[in-house]
Amino acid sequence: MQRVAASFARPRAVRRWALASLIANIGIIVTGGAVRLTESGLGCPEWPNCTPESLVATPEMGVYGLIEFGNRLLTWGLGALAAGALAAAWLRSPRRMSLVKLAVGVLSIIPVQAVIGGVTVWTNLNPWVVGLHFLGSIGILVFSTALYIRSGEPDGPAVALVPRPVRVLSRILVASALVTITLGVVVTGSGPHAGDAETPRNGLDPELLSVLHADSVWLLIGLSVAMIAVLHAVGAPDTAKRASYLLLAVELLQGVIGYTQYYLGLPELIVGMHMLGAALLWVAVLAMGYTLRKREPAPAGSVLHRIVVGDEAEPATALFEDARGSGRRHDIGPSRLPRNGLRRGPALRRRSGSPRLRSPCAANAPGGSCPRRPRGPG
Ligand code: HEM
Repeated sequence: MQRVAASFARPRAVRRWALASLIANIGIIVTGGAVRLTESGLGCPEWPNCTPESLVATPEMGVYGLIEFGNRLLTWGLGALAAGALAAAWLRSPRRMSLVKLAVGVLSIIPVQAVIGGVTVWTNLNPWVVGLHFLGSIGILVFSTALYIRSGEPDGPAVALVPRPVRVLSRILVASALVTITLGVVVTGSGPHAGDAETPRNGLDPELLSVLHADSVWLLIGLSVAMIAVLHAVGAPDTAKRASYLLLAVELLQGVIGYTQYYLGLPELIVGMHMLGAALLWVAVLAMGYTLRKREPAPAGSVLHRIVVGDEAEPATALFEDARGSGRRHDIGPSRLPRNGLRRGPALRRRSGSPRLRSPCAANAPGGSCPRRPRGPG
């Protein structure tokens, strides 16, 4: 148990859990698409039970029941990964409340999504509810992406790397991508892939909506090209330029997939690829915004304590920071060390200093005796 807690407490653990959770949340968009595209949407006609008599899919329900019930089970996997990320953020030493809040964000939307999924079944796959279900996953990706990125950088104050208008442009890009995705969801609601042969569509004109959707894509591409030009003009860091080129590449690829599916009459496989492309594009546009600023490591004079967790040979260099995650750091003293369970019993031993952990050393003090661990990813 101690070892498990210690493995969660490693700063890098949050990043790993966050990555797994991010990938899983992208994956469930595709598997949810598979449910719709194989017409398995009502494979389980009830929710939360699969049928009035059975919690799980029964053999009589055939492959449709298996597909739909399989997708329901994946929700538990998503929940487990999100809970793992939250546990890692909570047990992280030192704890960063910013990561805890993001992990709570990921975990708390998953049950909401499960309920919206249930309502799609109760409403016989009403296209507006199905669309809301898709957008719920888009919401989870906001938190998962942020958790993954933030867990790889220090928690100091954010420092802008480009002028404010460029950052505003990046927000416009995010808004534009959201408009494109929302329009795509509405096109789907008017199209042939309802998830069940009997399900009515939203009654809007699919041709007209597809044109609107494609127009919004051209706007998004135009804004992305403008972003690339602006980043070059202001001498932005290479990471920001690379992220903007990557975003443009994903948009172009997704655009090609979109036109291909449209002209080929929406073959299921390509529609599934289009859903994956939408999720990746969303992550790419969110991630680009994070490259326009950086977070500083601990300010000079921060207080470090060296602690040893369990039998780990590697000491965790604890930098106790403002519990609200504001980036302000100070010596909070041993009596107010983060209570993450690791202090209890023999699990936490002081490596050096007085018995009351009173021997902090200034992080950046020249010649300080307390060696500073690089604040890399984690
Ligand atoms: C940046 C590029 C694009 C993004 C982010 C995007 C996003 C989306 C999304 C999120 C959906 C809804 C998926 C669902 O609810 O299952 C969708 C559906 C759709 N998109 Fe796009 N799309 C893009 C480009 C295009 C283009 C260029 C076209 C060409 C006309 C297109 C045509 C369609 C069609 C026809 C659907 C409905 C598919 C169906 O009925 O199942 N998309 N798109």
